Amino acid sequence: MKIGLVQTSPVFGDKKANQEQIEALVGKAQADLWIMPELALTGYEFLDRGELFELAEEIPDGPSAKWLVQFCADRNCHAVMGLAERDGHIVYNSCVLASPQGIVGRYRKLHLFERETELFAVGNLPLPVVNIGQTRVGLMICFDWRYPEVARTLTLRGAQILAHPSNLVMPFCQKAMVTRALENRVFCTTVNRIGTEKRAGREVAFTGESQIISPAGKELASLPVAETGIAVAEIDPREADDKHTSRYNDLIADRKPEFYD
Ligand code: ACM
Repeated sequence: MKIGLVQTSPVFGDKKANQEQIEALVGKAQADLWIMPELALTGYEFLDRGELFELAEEIPDGPSAKWLVQFCADRNCHAVMGLAERDGHIVYNSCVLASPQGIVGRYRKLHLFERETELFAVGNLPLPVVNIGQTRVGLMICFDWRYPEVARTLTLRGAQILAHPSNLVMPFCQKAMVTRALENRVFCTTVNRIGTEKRAGREVAFTGESQIISPAGKELASLPVAETGIAVAEIDPREADDKHTSRYNDLIADRKPEFYD
């Protein structure tokens, strides 16, 4: 199957422009699973909770989730995208997995980064692994990379591919995700944005370098630090089912949980 990464430069608050940017970048390219950044249609640096609340939407009935389902229907594919999710008065930093038929997976970010802790509620749903027929996809968002428990839990729940929408501002994650792939023998797909946002008296620069890493830690595709673009890689998800690193070692079966805290 083909996995596609869409590395964007969102315009803060302009969802329509950001949808058009994704559509233009993807063009006629084909993939079975497209992955887009965290908060892909809103931008990242909200002034305050009021502004975030206005931009957040319900899942699956909000226009952004519906647009993503239509994106999948038009291309006969699946797609993962981050978005601000409104549930009553609460807003989560979420991502969804869409199919041509509708939203088939949802995750609310558990590990909020810096100022996100003042804006969003901490996720309250289990870490999801979604079977989309060709493969099983685990969902995590950006700063979750800093917690190896997240990738491990998704692996133990059967994920073959970790879809990791991101808005990264530090340079460490891309290397760390090579380790997550090696630790778990899963495909790790980090999709980041580029550009700078100057809002709320802050300036935040995003670090691009979206990538797909194989279960053996090999970079299968990557994008530059400061350019938008797409990258597509052909993978066999079943590679992630073999947890052996040698004929003597099985990464999961050889764990010693009775010795771990
Ligand atoms: C991040 O979690 N957006 C760094």
